[in-house]
Formats: sequence, C-alpha cells, structure tokens
Amino acid sequence: MGKSDAMPAYTNLPGMGRTIPEVEAFLIRGGHPLVGEVSVAGAKNSVLKLMAVALLAEGRTTITGVPDILDVAIMGKLVTRLGCEVAWDKAAQTLTIDVPAELEQRADYDLVRQMRASISVLGPLIARLGVADIALPGGDAIGSRGLDMHMAGLERMGAKVTSEHGYLLASAPERLSGATIWLDFPSVGATETLMMAAVMAQGITVIDNAAREPEIVDITEMLVKMGAQIDGVGTSTLTIEGVDQLHPTTHDTVPDRIVAGTWAVGAAMTQGDVTVKHARMNHLAIALDKLTEAGASVSEVDDGFRVVMDERPKSVDIVTLPYPGFATDLQPQFIAMNAVADGLSMVTENLFEARFKFVNELIRLGADIRTEGHHAVITGRPTLSGAPVEAHDIRAGASLVLAGLVAQGDTVVSKVHHIDRGYSGFVSDLTGLGAQIERLAPAEMPAQR
Ligand code: UD1
Repeated sequence: MGKSDAMPAYTNLPGMGRTIPEVEAFLIRGGHPLVGEVSVAGAKNSVLKLMAVALLAEGRTTITGVPDILDVAIMGKLVTRLGCEVAWDKAAQTLTIDVPAELEQRADYDLVRQMRASISVLGPLIARLGVADIALPGGDAIGSRGLDMHMAGLERMGAKVTSEHGYLLASAPERLSGATIWLDFPSVGATETLMMAAVMAQGITVIDNAAREPEIVDITEMLVKMGAQIDGVGTSTLTIEGVDQLHPTTHDTVPDRIVAGTWAVGAAMTQGDVTVKHARMNHLAIALDKLTEAGASVSEVDDGFRVVMDERPKSVDIVTLPYPGFATDLQPQFIAMNAVADGLSMVTENLFEARFKFVNELIRLGADIRTEGHHAVITGRPTLSGAPVEAHDIRAGASLVLAGLVAQGDTVVSKVHHIDRGYSGFVSDLTGLGAQIERLAPAEMPAQR
C-alpha cells in the first residue's frame, strides 16, 4: 500500500502493455479540509482529440501539457495501431506522434470499447484515406450517447456510412465535399468529427449550431496552425474551407476546466482553502458563480483562482447545458456538495440520461437524494457516513471521493480505474492538499459488499 498514485507504469506509449486494474480502490478518511495549492494539467477532452487531429498531417506533431491519464494511454495505443509512432516524455508532459504517409483504416473494438473518444479518429481517417472502419464505442456508462449526427453530417458531405457487425463503416472514395450542416444539438463529438473531416474536404463546409466548448476552440486552434482554413472559432457557426494538405505542428493543450472545477468544489464542500493553478477562470464562469452563491469566496490569482469557504455551503440549483452553460461533467461534484449543503436543491441533467446512476452510491453514504427523470432533488444533510461505494464513470468517481472527504469514518471507492481515466495524480494531489487518502491494492480491500 502506498500513498502515492502508484499507477501502473507506462513510459513509452508504443509498448506500454498497460492493463486496466479494475479492482483497485481508494480509501478515504473523512474530516480533513482541502487546504493548499494544486496545479492542473491539460484537458483530457482536448488532448485525446488533439492526438486524432495529428493524424491529418504526415510527419511529427508534438503535443505538450499532456496529462498522465489512462485515456491518453488508450488513445496512444489506438494511433499506434493506425501506423503512428508515439513517444511520451512524462517529465515534460509531452507526446510526439510520427504520422506515416499511409495510415491503417481500422479502429478495433478492444481499444474503442475502453474509451468512447476513440470515435474521434473517424474524421481524420475519412479525410485522409476516404475510408474508415471504427468499432462502435463504449466508454462511460452515462447514457446512450448516439452517433447519428456524426453519421448524418458525413453523409451530407458525400460519404456512405453504414453500421455492420458492431463497426461503423464510412467511405468517400471521391473525397468529401463541403456542405452546410445544421446540428440538431451542439454535440461536442459531432462538431469535432465534422470539423476534422471538413478541413480537407473539397470546398466550403458550414457547421451550424456547433458546440463551443473550450476544448473545441483548442482543437480548432491546432487545426489552424496546421494550415486549416476555419472561420468563426469559438462561435456556433464554423465555416471551413477545405485544403489539399495539412502540415504537422506543435501545440499546448488547454488546461482541464473539469479537473479545476473538481478542486473548486472540493475546497467549498470541505470548508477549505484551495488555490488552483494553471486554470482559466473564464472557462468555469457559471460553476464558480454557483460556488459564490453557495457562500464561497472566489478570487483570481496569477495563472488561476482561489476558493475559500468558511462555513457550511448553501444549496445551489444546477441545470446542465452545452457550453457556456453549466458543464454536465461538473454535475456529480455539485450533487456531492449539495448533499452536505444547507437547504434543498434541484439539479437538472439535460445531456446524459443515465448520469444520475451514481446517486445510489451517494445515498449509501447517507445522502438524501430523490431522482425523477432528469431531475434530482437533494436535501442537504449536516454530514455523511463513510461506506464502500463504486465509481461508475470518471466524474461520478471523483464526486464519491469528494463525498468521502466530508463523511464521518472511512469510505472505500472501488473501480477507481474510471477516475484514473481522467485525473492525473489524483491521490498525490489530494494528499498534497491535506486529504487522508490512499490507493488500495486488491488484497487490501474490504470484502465485497
Ligand atoms: C463530450 C465529452 C464529455 C462531456 C460531453 C458534453 C469527450 C471525450 N467527452 O462527450 O466528457 O460530458 O462532451 O459536454 O470530449 N448525441 C446524439 N447523437 C450524436 C451525438 C451526440 O444523440 O450524434 C447525444 C449524446 O447521446 C449525448 C449528448 O448528445 O446525450 C451529448 O453528446 P456530445 O456533446 O456529443 O458529447 P460527447 O462528445 O460524447
């Protein structure tokens, strides 16, 4: 047993041979406020797509600010299998990806099922090869997460898209052609797929009702550096003029706003004082405003922000929406805070239908929460009580850890590979902030409940 994160080592992505340690758990001793400073790495939801963007240009692309998380390892394996050479410098948080002239066209199920973001290779492969076979993805257990807008958009650009034997097969032998595409909903994944396909299509593509998340802006900025012609960056109408070829580049990943937001909520709900560095306050405007409403003092500091809470938080209502609305990826953490806040709150989830699944685990810790459809009603309790619980997805896992920090006694969160998918150095960061947490190996875990 150790207090470090002690993640299975992977120093060189191409040969890392890493397995998913599904049985590991975190033991948390509640009752210690988070106090101190923590620094945030690059965004998971950006870097995975930046790795896919690299596929669009033959040659060496360098990505910096890369978090040491399991999903980057999985994406590294995927692009390696597509023919790239990938090298990872952990100390420098840098990935180099050497992209060959000829890529493979197939993303296999064994990797795609581990991570839904694998779908992001679809756009680059169809753009460069005119063909792509992508296993239909798995990923977080947070809803059905369809791909209809990805498929319809590519079809509008002239691709033939079918699904057979668990694979999505896309082909456009004649090169994709520019089209005007109205998304039914500002889907992050569909916006990315269509943007990556359009940058090398024939003519002009307009994506209307596009997603505007900071990670989309990051991807767009990398594409522009590679020679793509994109207007309307950061708005809901992207106009893209296809070019024949893109060139490799170097790009620094945008900081992870969800990790930064997790620390902010942790500070507020443990009545602590945390300075979050390498974080952009403007990417978290609504979430930080909600923390102020809950009674926290939030201030800007050099390269980040500070959250101080001197009293029990007050309950806050939340409604998740596409950016710049309240991020669904911060919803579980806010539910955890509301579970110990003063008052009654309503949380409405508009993006993922199964995102309240983890609430049953919070109830095991003594939370008073009722869900009905996409609403959750939370009656704040003065305290929670430690118990064994299971992480179902990345953010639900993080929120259970936050709940454990304020629960009386010990909480064991199992299946923490979900948390490892998105948080680099979670245990060491928490320990650095004064939390009592350690990673348990299987033999040290309490008996199954
Ligand atoms: C991304 C993020 C995820 C975040 C989400 C919303 C990554 C790796 N993941 O997921 O962390 O929670 O954005 O901010 O970046 N939908 C369809 N048809 C489609 C596409 C989407 O019905 O063709 C639905 C999905 O089922 C889901 C909703 O739209 O209910 C949101 O999906 P989307 O915005 O595409 O999110 P992801 O890209 O999957």
